[in-house]
Amino acid sequence: MTIEYQETAKDLLTRIDIHQKYGARDIDQWMIELLQPSPGDVILDVGCGAGKQCFLYWEKTAGKASITGGDISQELLEKARAENARRGASIRFMELDFNQPFPFAAEQFDLVSCSFAIYYAGDIPFTLREMHRVLKTGGRLFTTGPMPENKKVFYDIIRAASGKPIPPMPGSSRYASLILNTMRDLFRQVEVHIFENPLTFETVEPFLEYTRASLSEDRKLWKPLFQSKQEFENLMQAIEREARAWIAREGKIVMTKVVGGFIATK
Ligand SMILES: C[S@@+](CC[C@H](N)C(=O)[O-])C[C@H]1O[C@@H](n2cnc3c(N)ncnc32)[C@H](O)[C@@H]1O
Repeated sequence: MTIEYQETAKDLLTRIDIHQKYGARDIDQWMIELLQPSPGDVILDVGCGAGKQCFLYWEKTAGKASITGGDISQELLEKARAENARRGASIRFMELDFNQPFPFAAEQFDLVSCSFAIYYAGDIPFTLREMHRVLKTGGRLFTTGPMPENKKVFYDIIRAASGKPIPPMPGSSRYASLILNTMRDLFRQVEVHIFENPLTFETVEPFLEYTRASLSEDRKLWKPLFQSKQEFENLMQAIEREARAWIAREGKIVMTKVVGGFIATK
């Protein structure tokens, strides 16, 4: 299966910024408390984007873990490398396509992580088998992704604005089913953890900024709702009307992110 998906650096960084400003909880803290990476660990982060999780591991281990981040986007890898230099860190950022065999021998890593990315893989069992192969026995795989009840309000507003059903999102439609089941098949043990983070918007602007960064015209997933730039702008206007009516009625929009964290042990 081909997933038509392209993350731009600007959209990803906008959403990360809005989570940090309007969310009640810090996902990084949740993740680090769950994973407790140790100095000396050999870590691979797949779909690392601009390096968010890699830098978190680097901080937590005081620079004493061996960390590799891999991604297919040159644009995001460049951002990650610039941040690496700015911090004086020595994380290795490399091109890695998770639809291809990983360029590593078996049994190399103590921890492989993949945050908000695994569900874009064309053949999820193949990608999970590669993650399993490169892990040491006893090593852990950590994946995160949206659970089916994730940001319900966001989809309710878009559904009302467009009058159309929401197209299936590869994350919420596959994460808690295919991905979890395949991890259970491949690994000795799998734990499921849930992170809930309400984002509160008292004005429409940050909600619209978040929506733009999720739907922008290069996100092919939303094709049934808009194709041209003009259709996108028309939809955004309808979303703005719905969002304003919501705030007039409820006083605010509370959009709760519901994220699963699956930890599998080899
Ligand atoms: C939503 S972003 C998450 C990035 C990062 N983990 C974070 O949480 O900030 C999804 C990432 O998956 C990457 N990605 C998509 N297809 C990929 C592929 N075939 N191989 C490797 N990475 C891929 C994208 O480039 C993007 O960086």
